[in-house]
Amino acid sequence: MRVLGIESSCDETAVAIYAHDKGIIAEAVASQIETHAKFGGVVPEVASREHLKVLPALTQQVLADAGCDWSSIDGIAVTAGPGLMGALLVGVTFARSVGLVNNIPVLPVHHMEGHLFAPGLSDEGLPAFPFMSLLVSGGHTLLIRVDGLGQYKVIGQTIDDAAGECFDKAARVLGLPYPGGPEIAKLAKRGDASVFKLPRPMLNKANFNFSFSGLKTAVMYAAKGCTNFDAQAKADLAAATELAIADVLVKKAMRACKAEDITTLVIAGGVAANQTLRMTLDKASKAQDINVFVPDLAYCTDNAAMIAYAGALRFQQNDKITNDWDANPRWKLTDLT
Ligand code: KG4
Ligand code: ZN
Repeated sequence: MRVLGIESSCDETAVAIYAHDKGIIAEAVASQIETHAKFGGVVPEVASREHLKVLPALTQQVLADAGCDWSSIDGIAVTAGPGLMGALLVGVTFARSVGLVNNIPVLPVHHMEGHLFAPGLSDEGLPAFPFMSLLVSGGHTLLIRVDGLGQYKVIGQTIDDAAGECFDKAARVLGLPYPGGPEIAKLAKRGDASVFKLPRPMLNKANFNFSFSGLKTAVMYAAKGCTNFDAQAKADLAAATELAIADVLVKKAMRACKAEDITTLVIAGGVAANQTLRMTLDKASKAQDINVFVPDLAYCTDNAAMIAYAGALRFQQNDKITNDWDANPRWKLTDLT
């Protein structure tokens, strides 16, 4: 089966083709980061217009790269939520149109389910169920017990900002452009994380929830209180921020695995690209005998390969594809079955 995946939920327009016997055979991502950078964040209407501008040609390019035409595509999987409504509607409307014209079934994919199963695109493949998943992106910070496709139990989540949002807001304090995560990571390489003492919010609470808005405020006060906030101090604060976020995520994820008696942890979402997080996790998981699965770097941030792959899993499970669905900017992972 060949599935063409389309992603347009935020600021990346992406198309990919997944073949069940070969994996991803062609893919492309058109990032809007430079367009939005001058505004310091994603402007929803600009995002929709950019998706509309590039999606048709990007799709033709991916079909050509794969040596396919529409007749060799068995299904279309499109991100239907969560995300920016206008941006989602561009992908969904395009998918429905080409599906109708070419008589191909179209299936809605939950963006976070795409992230959740992205490790399945690596050489190791997807781990056996059940596993714990730490989903960390710009809009989500979730600890989820996964017992199968569509069988999700939320163990913990952020009560305010997401981890990626914290990276992005802290980056602004440090005068770095959007998106802040990769920028903080770059700057942190030259920094000493021990110079600034930052809090580890919610670490002493007995639950698995997170809170990152206090950390962002602490970063702001640390910057304001620094008498000589020069390039080195900025690098030190970047390193301290990165370590504080990684520490909290890793400790809570390890505790959640223990509480649920699970020995496999998957990390996914844009923040999973962070090397300090990966290193902190590597150390902690070895001490607790947890197997960690991480997606390839390109499949941590938004892409269509993960949508095509999750779509292929859904097509396999689903023999009745209907048109009775719509783009849903607030679609919850736990609404899936
Ligand atoms: O999954 P994603 O690409 O989009 C959403 O679904 O939100 O995640 C984007 C988030 C942004 O907040 C970005 O700053 C963060 O992931 N991010 C990183 C890194 N790369 C992206 N955060 C920390 N370190 C990185 N290397
Ligand atoms: Zn995402």
